[in-house]
Amino acid sequence: MKSSFLTVLVAFLAILMGLYPLIYLGLDESTGFQSSKLPELLGSSVWKICFYGHIIFGGLSLLSGWSQFVSKWRNRNLRLHRSLGLLYLISVSLSGLCGLYLAFFANGGLISSLGFGSLAILWLITTWKAYQSIVAKKIEEHQRWMLRSYALTFAAVTLRLWLPALTGLGIAFIVAYKIISWLSWVPNLLVVEWLIKRTGAKPGYNSIRASKQ
Ligand code: HEM
Repeated sequence: MKSSFLTVLVAFLAILMGLYPLIYLGLDESTGFQSSKLPELLGSSVWKICFYGHIIFGGLSLLSGWSQFVSKWRNRNLRLHRSLGLLYLISVSLSGLCGLYLAFFANGGLISSLGFGSLAILWLITTWKAYQSIVAKKIEEHQRWMLRSYALTFAAVTLRLWLPALTGLGIAFIVAYKIISWLSWVPNLLVVEWLIKRTGAKPGYNSIRASKQ
């Protein structure tokens, strides 16, 4: 009961945030996040390509990732599971590389650049580790790396929950932003490590193996 509530909550937030980049279709540079950037940066085509690449593929990674953890659905739709997995891998790779570039110009300076930069590097590493382990048919290892990877993908959601919480406490926006460049992902990773230790992160995957035999 508790875990199905958590699944629904994660799915709901992932879909909401996954669709959020669509608002940029209707925004010009003078409003929203882009208005916080210097005109020289907004004039850079590399930054622009990375910005749109990051938010579009970031959205796709959130949308394609969550259902992969629903073991009943996954075991019944293995082919779709693989296709969505490939979409997730491509999306994280493109969004992560673009995010790493954006991190150099993040609001909040060095602290934010280091926070988002570390997140981008770990996002790429954990996702590729998940891919390598499934190619090597190490199913449980694949699941552990995917849990870590998606916990990092979910930083996009937790960032937007922490931000109003901290500014609501009276912390200045830019200070909150610097804190959140770390707070958006370090606790996510710790929770998932705790889950992996507690459960061994095996549910559902043994039955994939069984269904293949
Ligand atoms: C998990 C790895 C991620 C990293 C390292 C990362 C990094 C960044 C960075 C550095 C920025 C620019 C911040 C600034 O200049 O101050 C940014 C902005 C943004 N990112 Fe990500 N991001 C990640 C995941 C995602 C995901 C999964 C999405 C999904 C939609 C996403 C959507 C956005 C959006 C929409 C913005 C523009 C700011 C806003 O509208 O709030 N990011 N990200």
